[in-house]
Amino acid sequence: MDFTTLLKQRRSTRHFDPDAAISNEELHDLLAAAGLSPSGNNAQPWRCVVITDSAWREKLLPVAFNQQQVLTASTVILLLADREAYQAENLTRIHQEEYEDGCFNETVRDFLTQAAIGFYQPFQETDTLKALALDCGLFAMSLMLAAENAGWQTVPMTGYQPALLREAFAIPDRYADIMLIAVGKGKQHGHRTLRRPVQELVYWNTIPD
Ligand SMILES: Cc1cc2nc3c(=O)[nH]c(=O)nc-3n(C[C@H](O)[C@H](O)[C@H](O)COP(=O)(O)O)c2cc1C
Repeated sequence: MDFTTLLKQRRSTRHFDPDAAISNEELHDLLAAAGLSPSGNNAQPWRCVVITDSAWREKLLPVAFNQQQVLTASTVILLLADREAYQAENLTRIHQEEYEDGCFNETVRDFLTQAAIGFYQPFQETDTLKALALDCGLFAMSLMLAAENAGWQTVPMTGYQPALLREAFAIPDRYADIMLIAVGKGKQHGHRTLRRPVQELVYWNTIPD
């Protein structure tokens, strides 16, 4: 499908066919496609908990303000972000793997590794959360577009109670919760939404006041 058509076609879908199952292979392919997203220093902090189990869905339902897509989507992805992705060990590992795969030479490897480690060193909690949300947000968008392209519909959800979610699923402090993404076969096309015209959003060589 033409990319602009894909962008126009995607809508947040909240009514799913509860009988539509997504195979592990299909889900694997969608997640692999989403994993092609860019991230700061290629840290790839995204981690996905694939929720299909009905007991898990029932537990998630009240946490997510009873949004029915939690029950009816083929799966709900709980998107987490790994704080340790910004630590030296992971940053060294990814650049070493890239070096071994021929992406660049030793000099570039060492430069990029040291630059990445130095970049995150002064980070406070708010800086870390901002970077994690940004990296994982790009992953989420890719996942939704890959799903749409493959004939699935999605809705991103931050409509849940973080403290209850973390408690209900015993999420370790290492992982920030980013969002839920329901993936399934839409029974009903999501309602149309509007976007502000480009002229309202763009400032040429000017900072908005
Ligand atoms: C960060 C984020 C959180 C959202 N949370 C929810 C949610 O909890 N429940 C829901 O039904 N839709 C949720 N949405 C969907 C938005 O309402 C939707 O994207 C917006 O109205 C535009 O509609 P469209 O996605 O169909 O283009 C969320 C979207 C984003 C980007």
